[in-house]
Amino acid sequence: MAAYRASMASSFSLVHSATLLKNSIFLRRSRVLAFSLHLSPFSTSSATLSSDVLHAHKKSRQPVAATLLELGGVKVGRDEIVKDDPTNNVPDSIFSKLGLQLHRRNNHPLGILKNAIFDYFDTTYPSKFTKFDDLCPIVSVKANFDDVLVPADHVSRSYNDTYYIDSQTVLRCHTSAHQAELLGEGHTHFLVMGDVYRRDSIDATHYPVFHQMEGVRVFNPADWEGSGKDGTQFAAEDLKKCLEGLAQHLFGGVEMRWIDTYFPFTNPSFELEIYFQEQWLEVLGCGVMEQDILQRNGRTNNVAWAFGLGLERLAMVLFDIPDIRLFWTTDERFTSQFSKGQLGVKFKPFSKFPPCYKDMSFWISDSFTENNLCEVVRGIAGDLVEEVKLIDNFTNKKGMTSHCYRIAYRSMERSLTDEEINDLQWKVREQVETKLKVVLR
Ligand code: DAH
Repeated sequence: MAAYRASMASSFSLVHSATLLKNSIFLRRSRVLAFSLHLSPFSTSSATLSSDVLHAHKKSRQPVAATLLELGGVKVGRDEIVKDDPTNNVPDSIFSKLGLQLHRRNNHPLGILKNAIFDYFDTTYPSKFTKFDDLCPIVSVKANFDDVLVPADHVSRSYNDTYYIDSQTVLRCHTSAHQAELLGEGHTHFLVMGDVYRRDSIDATHYPVFHQMEGVRVFNPADWEGSGKDGTQFAAEDLKKCLEGLAQHLFGGVEMRWIDTYFPFTNPSFELEIYFQEQWLEVLGCGVMEQDILQRNGRTNNVAWAFGLGLERLAMVLFDIPDIRLFWTTDERFTSQFSKGQLGVKFKPFSKFPPCYKDMSFWISDSFTENNLCEVVRGIAGDLVEEVKLIDNFTNKKGMTSHCYRIAYRSMERSLTDEEINDLQWKVREQVETKLKVVLR
């Protein structure tokens, strides 16, 4: 993901300066990176998983609280999700997040924000939009990618970026995974709010589980015929009006701008940026739905718009929340600061514990990826890891490449002892060496 973000930096000047961004992995039009072709058993090539990569996905030994979950009405056991199988890369640390549904807690910042967005749609379009916030996050590869026209060789499909339960089933990496099914069921106005899962790097704004809201509105020819515009133009204008209204509803008199972009599922496609604390912040992706998606789902004469927005980024801005891990804490000093309907109450940090930095250098193997490293670190340190950052990178005369990563350990709840951190770092070194097949220096 780091490489992915870097590649987009030129088109989004704020990507590196703003600390609040989770970029869409669907912006990228080009073919997959070399490593993901190698990693993904599901791409167009017949590449298979290397044994190094498989090692990287061996499961962590963290204790797991519940072993039987109910997800959107579906009962699933741990063994159905965390499997010792080459096509499965879901660790226990991810399984433990399933079913928590932070967005369904009315006193949680994400629940408060969800309710505010739902309110906007209820007030602006009374009784029009059907709202879903409990759809099962386990979806087919078809629903997550094929049905929304994500190309077969797109980077987002790679084993490095997406959590696969088996070759045909994933933890949804975006709420767009529900578009086709809901259209096929006859829905024409809907909002889907849910937890989404992506393998990623570690820092204050990236967490492998976050929350998105998807919106879709379908128009009939009668809607645009009298307007003097064609269906696409009509839908694009309506979409922009709707989302500008939403941004005003959430942020008050905010300055905003539209940026043309690319998504596989929409044409034309746009991003909305708002000006906040002296920088432009990308808050959502949207566009006019590709005709193919509508036609395949029984809507031959229609035009539709769709959007997808990330809740954490908005909530971090609205509530002044400095670290994405805080959304997951059960510390009362965090949870007691928020209550139902109170949008934008500013979070007061209860204390700041010192970080502890540990560096680790190794010669990488061909299959090494930063996402795999981050998963190993999270598997051991959980939410005690604040950031994993590449601080040195060189290739010697023999063509061997060395990376040095700096790991920041910091608890948001207490001081960590030297002994505890040394113990974590020791375990990290051990697992990095065995699971990622790198050579420590
Ligand atoms: N699914 C996209 C993502 O996760 C966000 C998105 C963009 C959703 C455009 C949409 C859309 O429905 O039209 O990055």
